[in-house]
Amino acid sequence: MSMPTPIQFLETDLDAMAEANGRLVVMVTPDGKLDQAARRANRLSKGAVARFVESDGFDKVKSGQVVSLGWPAGMAAEALDILIIARNAGAVEIRKAGAKLAKLKGDKPLNVMAGNLKGAAELALGIALRDYSFNNHKTSEKADAEAGDVTIYHNVPEDIQAVAKPLLAVAEGAHFTRDLVNEPANVLTTTEFANRLEEMKSLGLKIEVLEEKDLEKLGMRTLLSVGQGSDSPSKVVVMEWNGGEKGAAPLALVGKGVVFDTGGISLKPAGGMEDMTMDMGGAGVVSGVMRTLALRGAKANVVGLVGLVENMPSGNATRPGDVVKSMKGDTVEIINTDAEGRLVLCDVMWYAQDRFKPAGMIDLATLTGAIIVGLGHDNAGVFSNDDRLCNAFLKAAEAEGEGAWRMPLGQGYDDLLKSRIADMKNVGGRPGGSITAAQFLKRFVKDETPWIHLDIAGVASLKSESDYAPKGATGWGVAALNRLVSDMFES
Ligand code: BES
Ligand code: MN
Ligand code: ZN
Repeated sequence: MSMPTPIQFLETDLDAMAEANGRLVVMVTPDGKLDQAARRANRLSKGAVARFVESDGFDKVKSGQVVSLGWPAGMAAEALDILIIARNAGAVEIRKAGAKLAKLKGDKPLNVMAGNLKGAAELALGIALRDYSFNNHKTSEKADAEAGDVTIYHNVPEDIQAVAKPLLAVAEGAHFTRDLVNEPANVLTTTEFANRLEEMKSLGLKIEVLEEKDLEKLGMRTLLSVGQGSDSPSKVVVMEWNGGEKGAAPLALVGKGVVFDTGGISLKPAGGMEDMTMDMGGAGVVSGVMRTLALRGAKANVVGLVGLVENMPSGNATRPGDVVKSMKGDTVEIINTDAEGRLVLCDVMWYAQDRFKPAGMIDLATLTGAIIVGLGHDNAGVFSNDDRLCNAFLKAAEAEGEGAWRMPLGQGYDDLLKSRIADMKNVGGRPGGSITAAQFLKRFVKDETPWIHLDIAGVASLKSESDYAPKGATGWGVAALNRLVSDMFES
C-alpha cells in the first residue's frame, strides 16, 4: 500500500535553515508578526519576508494561505514558503494549511519551521493526508519514487510527535481507503480485496472471511443474488478490533463493497460506467477506519463487516422481477438489479446485529445517485434512528472538516417500498431516491440498535482535488469515524 511519507520531528535549529534543501516553510501571523524562524529567513534573504509583509499584497492574504518566494537569496532552498497562520488557529485550519504545503512539496524535501505552533501535529496530519498519489499503474513512475523527506522543526518536538502519532494513524487509514477505492476492478476483485484485509492480521486485527458456502448457510440470499452473475465469488469479511473492555458491546461498521457495479441486467449506460470501480467505497472506509484503530491501539471494541460482491449481467444473473429471501427472512422483489447496494447491506447488517449485538451500527455505502443530486459532492447523506448517536457523528465530522448533512426518514417514504407479491420492493421510485434506499435498510435494523446510514456516493471519489486529497478517492469518513470512536466508545 502507499504509505504516507514519514514525518520527522526535530528541535528547532535556526542555523540549519540556510543549508536546508527543497522547500523551507516559515510562519507569519495575519497581523504581520514574524516568529523567530521567519526573522532568520528574513535576515538570510536580505529582507524579503519583511518586504512581503509590508506590501499591499499582504493585506489581501488570509490566515491559512501560503505565499511562495522562488529561489530565495541567501539560502540553499529552492523555495521559501511563507505560511500565514494565526497563533491560535483551529485544528481544521492548520490541517488545511498542512495540506497546501504537501501539495507544493511534490517530491522535494519539505522543512517546516513550526517554532512553538500549538497545532503542529495537525499540520503534520494535513501534510500526510495530502501527500498521496496513486501511481501503481504508471509505468513511467518508479514504484518507490523517492519522496522528499518531511521534517517539522519545533521547540518541543517530543510533545508534538506524541500528539501526532494517533493523528498520523488516521492518514495511514485514509491512504489505505484511497488505495482500495482507486484500484481498478480487474485488480481489486473480491478475492484480492479479502486478501488485502487479511494482511491486517499483522496489526492485531482479527480477520475472518466468510465464503459463498458460509453465506448460503447463513441464508444471505439477497447478498448472494447480487454476486451470482459474476465469476468473482461473493464474500463477507469480518474485522474485529477488541481494544476495549472485555465483553463490552462493540460498535459495528458495515460497508458496501461492490467491486464493480455494471447495474446487472438493469445495465447502466456506457458513459461514466468506469466510475463504478469506486462502488466499494463504503467497504473501503470501513477497512481504513479499522486500520487506523489498530495502528493507534484504540481502547474500544469495534467490528467492521464488509460485503464484497461484483454486480454483473450474465446467464445466471438475477433478473428484474426475481424474488429473493433475506437472512432476516423478509422477501424482496428485485425490480431493478442496479439497486444492489441495499441488497448487500441488508444481509450484512442483519448478520452484524445477530452475531455481535452491537451498541451501535453505522453503515457506509455509495448507495444512490440521488444523494449527489441532493447534496452534491460536499456532504455525505446522514440518516439515523437515534439522535444521540447521529449528533455525536455530525459533531465528529464537523471537527474533522468532513461534510455530513442529516436527511429525513418517515413512514411515507417506507410506504413506497410496498410490493404486490413480496414483503417489499428494492426500489421506491425516483422521488426521494436516497431516502427510500435508507428506508429499505431501516427495515433490517432492530428497534434497539442505534443506527446511522451514510450515503457516500457523492464524497467517496471526486473528479477534482479536495482540501485533503488529490483527484480520485478521498478517504472521506475515516477521520470522522475514528473521532466518533474516541469520543463515544473509548474510556
Ligand atoms: N452504485 C450506485 C450509486 C452511485 C451512483 C454511486 C453514482 C456513485 C455514483 C447504485 O448501486 C445505483 O446504481 N443506484 C441506483 C438506484 C436506482 C436504480 C434506484 C441509482 O442511484 O440510480
Ligand atoms: Mn447499482
Ligand atoms: Zn452500486
